[in-house]
Amino acid sequence: MKSDPGLSSNAAPSASQVSNSATSRHPSGDMRFGPDLMARLDALAAFTEVEGQLTRRYLTPAHIEAKCKVAAWMAEAGMSVRTDPLLSVFGRYEGHNPGAPAIMLGSHIDTVVDAGLYDGNLGVLAAIAVVEELARRGERLGHAIEVAAFGEEEGSRFPTHILTSSALIGAMAPELLDVRDSDGVSVREALLAAGGDPDAYRDCIRNKGKIAAFLELHIEQGPLLQEQGAALAAVTAINGSVRSAVKVTGFAGHAGTVPMTSRRDALTAASEMVLAVERMGASDPDLVATVGRIAALPGAQNVIPGRVTFTVDMRSRSDAVRDRADAALKFALQDIARRRGVTVEVDTYQRNAAIALAPQVIDAVDEAIATCGQRPIRLSSGAGHDAMIMARHCPSGMIFLRCEDGISHNPAETITVGDADLGVRALLEAVRLLDRRLAA
Ligand code: GLV
Ligand code: MN
Ligand code: MN
Repeated sequence: MKSDPGLSSNAAPSASQVSNSATSRHPSGDMRFGPDLMARLDALAAFTEVEGQLTRRYLTPAHIEAKCKVAAWMAEAGMSVRTDPLLSVFGRYEGHNPGAPAIMLGSHIDTVVDAGLYDGNLGVLAAIAVVEELARRGERLGHAIEVAAFGEEEGSRFPTHILTSSALIGAMAPELLDVRDSDGVSVREALLAAGGDPDAYRDCIRNKGKIAAFLELHIEQGPLLQEQGAALAAVTAINGSVRSAVKVTGFAGHAGTVPMTSRRDALTAASEMVLAVERMGASDPDLVATVGRIAALPGAQNVIPGRVTFTVDMRSRSDAVRDRADAALKFALQDIARRRGVTVEVDTYQRNAAIALAPQVIDAVDEAIATCGQRPIRLSSGAGHDAMIMARHCPSGMIFLRCEDGISHNPAETITVGDADLGVRALLEAVRLLDRRLAA
């Protein structure tokens, strides 16, 4: 990123500036960080599996190329760069004393299928901008600053979720190396093909004392900041989630000859199950439940489906509410299966507890937002984040940044260049505050 101080909003606009500056709510004309950050977010979006959209799943060539680009930006910013065995990349900017504990910033660079540009990527590239600014000013802190670009957060390729930060804290179940994507490729095989080292996954683990704090800037992915007319919020807590893979087995048969009364159609049974998931999600205001992926096999027009697989993602701020709903749903699915003469197997492969973020990080974020001339707001997160894993390892926090109409996991995801600028400023201020308050 260019380091000219005071790069103004009158500079020649990039495509993203044109689309975003019109709705910018930034109060000042001084945009040192926003335009370059938006340009980099645009540039990173070129690393995609599918031309014309942003799809960058873990360990695909698009992910590996994006990782290399991010590593190059880290090196340009004056960081030493290392890649861990699961292919997350980390840049390190030393403090006064080499080897001091680090304040880690960052997020993930994998995306959902047909994603927006900002989920995850914003937090990584804004963190690089923070280090660039420190380096430009010749400013060293008591702590090192590390920037993390985690490889797998979304679960968009494998039945995993937040795998790489889990590996960092030593909480990754090794069986997850053997789970497979829809093409039958395991995490282990994909890692080997991409230059990773699955058997060395324990080398991802960082000693607890070596990371003094973790802070993730992320788009809100909801509408509350926009509704309150605020750009940034301190995140207080992250909702817990449970993710399951469901397999319904019926009996495949001829679409023209098997009478309706003697069918064991896996897809019609699964359809009832999907509606049961929706009912469950609506049964408590503190609960949401989603079937995001479904496949019917053998998938031919003239064959009664014999097998269906689908996913269930259920979340709540209360682990008790979520676990009760999860148990009730499993009972309901079995009941539907019995009535319809099919079988159902539910494999719950992820269960993340709701987590409160660290008060000292929340306070520092509040103050940093105020220092940037913004009204500090506090919100909890309905989405999952690497910070919910890191919070089990070190004091952790998040800064939410307004996104238009709360749209996310959608190519229409939009932020303004002014808010992006504020995001970098707030992150930088929060780092300085944490550096002073946490023992190095
Ligand atoms: C990550 O985006 C999640 O599913 O919460
Ligand atoms: Mn994310
Ligand atoms: Mn996401």
